[in-house]
Amino acid sequence: MTAFGSSTATLPQTSDLPQHVAIIMDGNGRWARQRLLPRAAGHKAGLGAVRAVVKGCAERGIGYLTLFAFSSENWRRPADEVGFLTRLFLSTLDREIERLHRNNVRFRVVGATEAFGDVICERIRAAETLTAGNTGLTLTVAANYGGRWDVLQAVERLRQSGHQGPIDESALAAQLSMNYAPEPDLFIRTGGEARISNFLLWQLAYTEFHFTDTLWPDFGDAALAEAFVSYARRERRFGRTSEQLQQSD
Ligand code: IPE
Ligand code: IPE
Ligand code: MG
Repeated sequence: MTAFGSSTATLPQTSDLPQHVAIIMDGNGRWARQRLLPRAAGHKAGLGAVRAVVKGCAERGIGYLTLFAFSSENWRRPADEVGFLTRLFLSTLDREIERLHRNNVRFRVVGATEAFGDVICERIRAAETLTAGNTGLTLTVAANYGGRWDVLQAVERLRQSGHQGPIDESALAAQLSMNYAPEPDLFIRTGGEARISNFLLWQLAYTEFHFTDTLWPDFGDAALAEAFVSYARRERRFGRTSEQLQQSD
């Protein structure tokens, strides 16, 4: 069992503010190209947006923020870009972790991180351990993450645990890499594409989607606030009719 309900098994409690926000941070390369800069400059500029969004979510009392930093398909990029992103991840982690800790942020990483090597894995473990007892925002970075990988590793873990009989939703959900978080209420993708790109496939079953053309380095508190306004206007029916919702108010 996970600590949180499943949107398909039981009706979730919702409010005007999302409890869990998941973001595909896209458009760094195009931001750089517009300025005749190398793609790496776009990734660096994207860090400013990461800081703004972490701060914005923490200040609003959001419980969980999940950022897609590197997909299992991003290895298909040129080796120098992959190398740059890996180094940027490590240097940012080293530079920011103390500040996150001071701000009561619990830091987690999900994905097949062993592919990044021992040094990064060790630093991730240290950062997670340092911040494990924090009670503010849970910030998850998805690195070498794929939604299909996640479902498959959950099935594999179940198999290895000797699970008997049919697999039900809660048994599978309990083995997903984000079993410590509720399903996302709000999904944001910047950069104008309207696709999931193998992000949290299982958990996005009833998530509200917000797509914006804003490129990730330009995304800041105003853009976040706009996404929250849009979210607050949604009617989350989870299969019911609008009339049923009005009757239960
Ligand atoms: C998102 O920006 C960052 C990563 C995928 C690591 P992109 O690098 O995909 O930027 P575009 O889509 O090429 O503009
Ligand atoms: C999705 O962005 C992955 C991350 C933001 C980490 P991509 O830029 O890799 O997605 P596609 O290739 O356009 O679908
Ligand atoms: Mg992209």
